[in-house]
Amino acid sequence: MSFSVAIDGPAASGKSTIAKELANGMGLVHIDTGAMYRAITYLCLKRGIDCQNIPQVNALLPEINIELTLDEKVFINGEDVTTAIRSSEVSDNVSYIAAIKEVRLFLVDLQREMTKNLSIVMDGRDIGTYVLPQAEIKIFMIASVEKRAMRRYLENQKMGRTGNYEEILSNLKKRDYIDSHRDFAPLKPAEDSIILDTSDLSIPEVVTACKKIISNKLGKEIV
Ligand code: CDP
Repeated sequence: MSFSVAIDGPAASGKSTIAKELANGMGLVHIDTGAMYRAITYLCLKRGIDCQNIPQVNALLPEINIELTLDEKVFINGEDVTTAIRSSEVSDNVSYIAAIKEVRLFLVDLQREMTKNLSIVMDGRDIGTYVLPQAEIKIFMIASVEKRAMRRYLENQKMGRTGNYEEILSNLKKRDYIDSHRDFAPLKPAEDSIILDTSDLSIPEVVTACKKIISNKLGKEIV
């Protein structure tokens, strides 16, 4: 029997890292929905489209083709944008794109299509509330914004990306605000989600905590 794990939470709360680990350890398919919003943002910036110009962004949708591969690569219209979508320019603009209803409806269709007959772990902002309200397991990951900014700063340094701590902190605050105040499918915990505060937990500790939640929900021990 297939099942779905929905992981939501604010920016840089560790959702994607944990989702990847869970997917590898449990043989689930990981769907990183943030990467999809980032890919559309990348394309808009490349085409010189203002990310707050809703008609111009929407006009692009019919020609967009997004692919996520099993080895975590992201393609938009055949272009490998796996690295490019993590730039600070994309991070600065993605929440404007994600607040556009038509963009969300376009991506949500794709996201639901990707889960068909598969056991999956999907991470984002509205997975438990809107994309997969029927998901068997819903986890809402939180951590203090300072901890999240430090994690993103260290991650960027490791990957050779630019950006100082203060800039990252202000980007996370801005995105948290826009993501949780937009009209359509805002960031918020589903009523039946389990809140996991990861502020003082290491990655292996969060993975263990998630596996426990999943085991309890499924009523069986998982590896
Ligand atoms: O990894 P990080 O926490 O920086 O963010 P992300 O998961 O890559 O998502 C980037 C942005 O896409 C978020 O700040 C949201 O604006 C948007 N997003 C969304 O609105 N809904 C989702 N399901 C996933 C991402």
